[in-house]
Amino acid sequence: MVIIKTKEEIEGIRKSSRIVAEVLEVLKGFVRPGLTTWALNKKAEAVIRKRHARPAFKGYKPSFNSEAYPAAICASINEEVVHGLPSKRRVLKEGDIVSVDVGVVLNGFFGDAAFTYPVGEVSEKARRLMKVTEEALYRGIEQAVPGNRVGDISCAVQQHVESNGYSVVRDYVGHGVGKQIHEDPPIPNFGACGKGTKLVEGMTIAIEPMVAEGSGEVAVRPDGWTAYTRDGSLAAHFEHTIAITDNGPEILTVI
Ligand code: MF3
Ligand code: CO
Repeated sequence: MVIIKTKEEIEGIRKSSRIVAEVLEVLKGFVRPGLTTWALNKKAEAVIRKRHARPAFKGYKPSFNSEAYPAAICASINEEVVHGLPSKRRVLKEGDIVSVDVGVVLNGFFGDAAFTYPVGEVSEKARRLMKVTEEALYRGIEQAVPGNRVGDISCAVQQHVESNGYSVVRDYVGHGVGKQIHEDPPIPNFGACGKGTKLVEGMTIAIEPMVAEGSGEVAVRPDGWTAYTRDGSLAAHFEHTIAITDNGPEILTVI
């Protein structure tokens, strides 16, 4: 069931989303070769706590896992796509790309976003993948206007990704966001334009293209969380929480 938000509820989601954006901004200046993904997690959690908020993923039990998630962020390196479990043994090295996904809850409202960072100098190939994935996110956001349908977002993302020679990862999707981290409707990164749930003012959704250089087929590591590309190809992930308004999409995960 899609939950339409009031102006006050959107303000609540805006507040938590702003903290998500702050975390991602702090990490932009922090990510460097030699750090562990656990260090990123600690940094992120410190920013969240400083704002008197809670990390939304910590303790969360998603539908695909019976265990509770043990960290504040997901940190997925290179061929890892999403849900990378932060670890004291995973060290970032020059040339890696690392996708960080952050969720925050404040006063019962959630915000959710992700960004893929270069670690030091990265290859032209990696830069192009990150650029196309971020562009695909914005192509999707542009379609998030009242009167359009979920499929208009999906097909805009898919079209941009595939016309650049990449594949969309189909096993994970975007979602509604509100008093829960995952609400209806699902927002796939592939599908037919003009189909699916009608978008109306007051919907708040997370759009999150996950893009692979290769086939986009994924598997999950024995840790039960970390999703990686089966063919070992690089993957990137960008996400924003947005509100659908009569003045167009409003990106909430900004400072
Ligand atoms: N941030 C993810 C999403 O965008 C959810 C992470 S699930 C967790 O939907 F279990 F890893 F927290
Ligand atoms: Co999300």
